[in-house]
Amino acid sequence: MPHKIADDFPVLNQTVNGNRLVYLDSGATSMRPVAVLQAIDDFYKKEGANPHRGLYDLAQRSTEAYDGSRAVVAKFIGADYEETIFTRNASESLNMIAYCYAPLVLTKGSNIVIPISEHHSNLVPWQVLCKSHGAELRYLYVDKSTGAIPDSEIAAKIDKNTKIVAFAHVSNVLGVMFPLEKLVAAAKAVGAITVADVAQSVPHMKLDLHALDVDFAAFSGHKMYGPMGIGVLYGKRKLLEEMPPFLYGGDMIEDVREQETDFLPPPSKFEAGTQNGGGAVGIAAAVNYIESIGWDAIEKHEKALMTRLIAGLNALPNVTVIGNNDPDARRYGVAAFNIDGVHPHDAATILNDYGIAIRAGKHCAHPLLSYLDVEFKACCRASLGIYNTEEDIEKLLATIPEVRRRMNFVD
Ligand SMILES: Cc1ncc(COP(=O)(O)O)c(C=O)c1O
Repeated sequence: MPHKIADDFPVLNQTVNGNRLVYLDSGATSMRPVAVLQAIDDFYKKEGANPHRGLYDLAQRSTEAYDGSRAVVAKFIGADYEETIFTRNASESLNMIAYCYAPLVLTKGSNIVIPISEHHSNLVPWQVLCKSHGAELRYLYVDKSTGAIPDSEIAAKIDKNTKIVAFAHVSNVLGVMFPLEKLVAAAKAVGAITVADVAQSVPHMKLDLHALDVDFAAFSGHKMYGPMGIGVLYGKRKLLEEMPPFLYGGDMIEDVREQETDFLPPPSKFEAGTQNGGGAVGIAAAVNYIESIGWDAIEKHEKALMTRLIAGLNALPNVTVIGNNDPDARRYGVAAFNIDGVHPHDAATILNDYGIAIRAGKHCAHPLLSYLDVEFKACCRASLGIYNTEEDIEKLLATIPEVRRRMNFVD
């Protein structure tokens, strides 16, 4: 890494319960560097007017900041400006597809296919939609020991009645990357559209959505070093043109007559009302920050940390890595594990006593945890960001044995 990245993140410079904070929950939300905080502060201190509304200087500069932020984000994900819609978060983006596009293609007897490992945000909207349309929600069952989706599942589940194939690019529990190209090819072969939930991949790898050829994609700013409250919906231009608006209101209107309304084309068509200007500026600053470090450095650093983490977890007695436990298998950002006989909530609470922040529970993926049939139907998850260091990983590995000791196991 070019410099000690953690120094760019003021929140990391604190002690928790008398210990240096070791933040290992970036899969839930990543922290924000000074550059992002500064950009948001500047927007409200120096511009702060409502974008797209006024003709005075401040309003023009707000408009430039907002539209300019979209251009930065669009370039970052390999999309066109018109295809990049600001939302509140990945959940809202996925719901927008389910509410607005899916009803155009879903009929009684058709089906939607998703992996069993999906985050609820990419599962519940489809479940509700299938129920209301008399459609079937079909699951691709992952291999329990590798987390991978077998080709046979793709071949068996995607058929001529499939209208939508929705999947995480990277699973928020298993950490594996799903075979996006295969899923896109299988969906295309039957005329289904694809929805990629890239919430857990966008902070860890360079994405080119045009090259990946997905129809829709969704992610959140707060998992990629940006602020909370801003997310992105990507859609191919033709699909966004066909899709009706989600919300109606100001700033998405071409003309309104007493009984009719003409909408602006995308992206404005999907951004009714005053938007999150500070959030847009913040997510663009996060993109610039990531690019200033560079993908090669980020990937190399995170891969080294993850390899050490998985190898270290494997070496600990009474610890089981969930999904693929091969240290060399590429995992992106997240390592899920369990400590024998210890409920993950107890594990996380005890680790917090040592200043270590991990997530524990079902990770908004209840069907996956039931399917994996792990103890307590829950697990611990340590997730990485660019600011984590070898020291953080060693601290976690050295503290995990304390958890069983504190729970009165005699090992
Ligand atoms: C894979 C995945 N998809 C979607 C989401 C939902 O993100 P948000 O809560 O920002 O809408 C998450 C959040 O953890 C996630 O991990």
